Amino acid sequence: MASSLQFSRRTFAHMLGLGAGAALLAPVAGRGMEEHIALRARGRYWPAKLLPKDPKNLVLLNSNENPYGPSPTAREAMIEAHEVACRYPDFYADKLQEKLAAFHGFAPENVVVTCGSTELLKMCAAAFLGPGKRLVQATPTFEALAAYARRGGAEVVKVPVDGDYRHNLDALARAAQERPGLVYICNPNNPTGTVVSRPAIEKFLDKVPRETVVLVDEAYHHYVEDPGYGTLLGAVEVGRNVVIARTFSKIYGMAGLRIGYGLASRALVKKLRREVVFSSANVLGCVAAYASLEDEGFVRQNQQRNQDARNFLVQSMRARGRSVIPSHTNFVCVHVARPVRPVIRAFREQGIRVGRPFAGLPEHIRVSLGLPEEMEKFVAAFDRVFAAATRAA
Ligand SMILES: Cc1ncc(COP(=O)(O)O)c(C=O)c1O
Repeated sequence: MASSLQFSRRTFAHMLGLGAGAALLAPVAGRGMEEHIALRARGRYWPAKLLPKDPKNLVLLNSNENPYGPSPTAREAMIEAHEVACRYPDFYADKLQEKLAAFHGFAPENVVVTCGSTELLKMCAAAFLGPGKRLVQATPTFEALAAYARRGGAEVVKVPVDGDYRHNLDALARAAQERPGLVYICNPNNPTGTVVSRPAIEKFLDKVPRETVVLVDEAYHHYVEDPGYGTLLGAVEVGRNVVIARTFSKIYGMAGLRIGYGLASRALVKKLRREVVFSSANVLGCVAAYASLEDEGFVRQNQQRNQDARNFLVQSMRARGRSVIPSHTNFVCVHVARPVRPVIRAFREQGIRVGRPFAGLPEHIRVSLGLPEEMEKFVAAFDRVFAAATRAA
């Protein structure tokens, strides 16, 4: 603990432009801590009040979160940052922007920091769509962008995934020929968990009209094991009309802290910046993201945890005669061979939340990967849900 605290102070000092050994901020522990503990004991601490009634027994496998939470260094950095939570976040967002640029080998002008990657998706709809323009995307895929596009008056064209639940890139390219606006490629795709290879997307880029912007959402890229997969950062490097969306909500375990970012050419980032909500990236999220980026060990550890949970789930389902869609993410779609709504409800009654129903997947449930004990609870509940369904049949 002591060494990670020192490390985080260095990180935070670095962010503030101070020397590594600079006397920083007074430690938070010991400052009003008794008061906080007393408030908590009296039930006055609002987070406890707002938690679901029985959080310990509720298993949340519905939103593709990372149950391990932020890295220890990120947590320590956030404790330090409480001291500056009274300040607007722009300085910290700028530092994070510089850090992300250096991390990816770009200039800061190629990066925009956002309130989760959802804000970036909304910004893309505002910057590149509107009446008379077309959003082309797969179905099923992550739906937030389509909702924003429709609200802005754009046409939304949905192209069904192929027989292997992958993006049908040829059909997407054909649909993109008219009213060029934006194409959304979610890679890996949510909710299917599938990937398309980097060469396939590069070929696709040559087929869409020049003025079309291609938004590649790489929220789950850390989880991919397929050797054919690759980030599209290279396409940004050579100046293609590509925006890459990334997030700290998944491998970095920070979904509640709302930090995402986009990478694109200077010209595209300039257009995107016009649509950003001023000061939308919060101070705690910025320092946690900054500290997490340096924490490669934490990323590797989470990759391993995810792989273990995925293997356990897939093997458990196969042992029960169930097929799954091969997943490159932190969730898996399981074929339940019956309409999905009652199955989702049945899991809920067992205290387990799985994903909502998705277009094109009428008989699959999407199960996010949780802690080992949560995966065991899921499998036990699976047996109860299907034993009950078999008895009822
Ligand atoms: C593919 C994809 N993109 C973007 C998001 C939004 O994530 P956030 O706004 O937390 O970065 C999600 C959330 O689950 C997602 O699955």
